[in-house]
Amino acid sequence: MTVIGTGYLGITHAACMAELGYEVLGLDINAEKVRQLNNGELPIYEGGLDELLRRGLESGNLKFTTSFQEAAEFGDVHFLCLGTPQVGGGCAADTSQLDAAVEALAPHLERQCLVVGKSTVPVGTAERLAHKLIDLAPSGAAVDLAWNPEFLREGFAVKDTLSPDRIVLGVRTEAAEKTLRDIYQPLGDIPLVVTDFATAELVKVAANSFLATKISYINAMAEVCEAAHGDVMALAEALSYDDRIGRRFLSAGIGFGGGCLPKDIRAFMARAEELGAGEALSFLREVDAINMRRRARAVDLARELAGGSLENCAVAVLGAAFKPDSDDIRDSPALAVAKAIEQEGGLVSVYDPVALDNARKAYPELSYAGSAIEAAQGARVSLLLTEWSDFTELDPEEFGSVVAARNIVDGRNVLDPVVWRAAGWNFRAPGRP
Ligand code: UDX
Repeated sequence: MTVIGTGYLGITHAACMAELGYEVLGLDINAEKVRQLNNGELPIYEGGLDELLRRGLESGNLKFTTSFQEAAEFGDVHFLCLGTPQVGGGCAADTSQLDAAVEALAPHLERQCLVVGKSTVPVGTAERLAHKLIDLAPSGAAVDLAWNPEFLREGFAVKDTLSPDRIVLGVRTEAAEKTLRDIYQPLGDIPLVVTDFATAELVKVAANSFLATKISYINAMAEVCEAAHGDVMALAEALSYDDRIGRRFLSAGIGFGGGCLPKDIRAFMARAEELGAGEALSFLREVDAINMRRRARAVDLARELAGGSLENCAVAVLGAAFKPDSDDIRDSPALAVAKAIEQEGGLVSVYDPVALDNARKAYPELSYAGSAIEAAQGARVSLLLTEWSDFTELDPEEFGSVVAARNIVDGRNVLDPVVWRAAGWNFRAPGRP
């Protein structure tokens, strides 16, 4: 099989399939990335993936190329793992990487094969790509397409790929269904839903919208708690004992970010609008708005602790990644807050255990430190914005010994306010008194 596109999804899928014993050829148009991968260098941070990559390369099951011709000749099954970011200046998803990959691959497809889309796409994309494949491939209708969305979470990508909650197969032929069932058979008895293209495409955005809604729901409760002097942490705990609600994705804080949730809800709204079903998803506009307000709230809390102005205020920011155990800074709430503070004249020093290189490239105007303690040297306000365990385990005394003033915003609600206040800290956290 081939895996086209070697981002977080593609590298993980390729390495996991090789681990299952398949012969896998990964493809990327970025020659430097292909060189790194063939040398066993992982261009991203993802727990456990480096070992799988190394094992795949050593066994000979896994290799990488830039050649679509080689991929077409090699593969019986071609997985499409291209990114579908938000279009510049709009809300829709940009599917140009997918289109370009299909246009580059199809002219080399001279025999029967199955192309399998895994990317998150606007509903209707699979139908469009199926036509494109048949039009462009020399083997024409012998090229079948299936849509098999991926639900992996960064930080748990290997586990989510090898032990998924469910497998969704959008197929048009029994042959495609059989091929995919056979491929995933070694994963064991995983719930499997077979459906049409449109439903398969929708499952992914529906799942991500639900998760985003859950987070924004609790963040909306946090806003009300702030106004009413309630405590969102106790509220979430009390809600969680109702099995129908549960505790997961009810962590209030500075909201969701990353390469998926924010852009997926926007693209879903844009696509529903095109389909004349925009009203059905108008609530997602609120979900997005609540989420963005949480970032502004973190800045407000920092400003209050700074005494009303952040101008020339030394600020330590702990966390740059959009969540812990990842080096991904796409739409990171932590960096959005850091940047907003810097724009108000704050002198920001950012530390993150793994995302510093990415952060530095994207926000060269911010300052960066080599440790949490270094970032906190002389800080008048500190903010914990990504809940890395290094930060949740910080000792308030040790951390307090280097700052200029003991003011902290716990943007992720992971520190114990009682302990920090007892150590003399002015402690603020979203949704808490
Ligand atoms: C998400 C989906 O979970 C995954 O199924 C899909 O395939 C891709 O998108 P991911 O982007 O890796 O995965 O991150 P996720 O763990 O969902 O977290 C998203 C964001 O929500 C993070 O910024 C996280 O900090 C935030 N979050 C999560 C909260 O603010 N509160 C919560 O309770 C949970």
